[in-house]
Amino acid sequence: MQLDVFTLVPHAYSWLTEQRPVATVLGSELDLRLFSYRDTTPLRAGQVDDEPYGGGAGMVLRVDVVAAALDAVYGSSPDQRVIALTPQGRPLTQQVVEELASEQALTLLSSRFEGFDERIVSHLASDAISIGPYVLSGGELPAMVVLDAVARRLPGALAEGSGEHESFSDALDGGVEYPHFTRPAEYRGWDVPSVLLSGDHGAIERWRREQSRVRSVR
Ligand SMILES: C[S@@+](CC[C@H](N)C(=O)[O-])C[C@H]1O[C@@H](n2cnc3c(N)ncnc32)[C@H](O)[C@@H]1O
Repeated sequence: MQLDVFTLVPHAYSWLTEQRPVATVLGSELDLRLFSYRDTTPLRAGQVDDEPYGGGAGMVLRVDVVAAALDAVYGSSPDQRVIALTPQGRPLTQQVVEELASEQALTLLSSRFEGFDERIVSHLASDAISIGPYVLSGGELPAMVVLDAVARRLPGALAEGSGEHESFSDALDGGVEYPHFTRPAEYRGWDVPSVLLSGDHGAIERWRREQSRVRSVR
């Protein structure tokens, strides 16, 4: 997959790109490109934002700045899906992540300040996604959330089998995962469920399914 991220803070991504699973798939299954709006802005002194028409607090990311950034990379309209990250977008779910992970190429647009000039969302983007019903200061964390969630669905990102029984997977009927325990078997009187120590794989599988089911109906 080729994943292009347009941002005002490209250096914010360096930590994530050094971590697994993003680091594992970078350069093979994932080609990540980071573009700063300031590098291609047609305005002077690296300006990218402006005051909102109609007044009000804060600054708005300009449509001509984002168009110039897209033109510089793609020439004309990009063929791939262009996603504006905004609290007003459709919610990011595991189903949406699977959908995005099946694309050959994706573009993520992040903003800051009061957000995008609406013409960016309606004319330059083909999709709008929110990572949750709360407001962050910028689109860098939302873009990293999408990047990490998509990267772990790419071939070779995870150890064999470890992505199959995760929360929201088909293997768990879309429910959340069962609890995990590791050594010590007893700590401060807190015991690991005895079934997990029994060696009875059938019983363990049944217990895990039941735990997943119970936790998923909360
Ligand atoms: C301070 S927010 C703008 C919030 C906007 N004024 C509103 O009330 O909906 C600045 C930018 O951060 C990003 N952002 C903040 N929260 C987000 C969320 N929950 N999902 C996706 N992007 C978000 C978006 O790119 C947004 O344009």
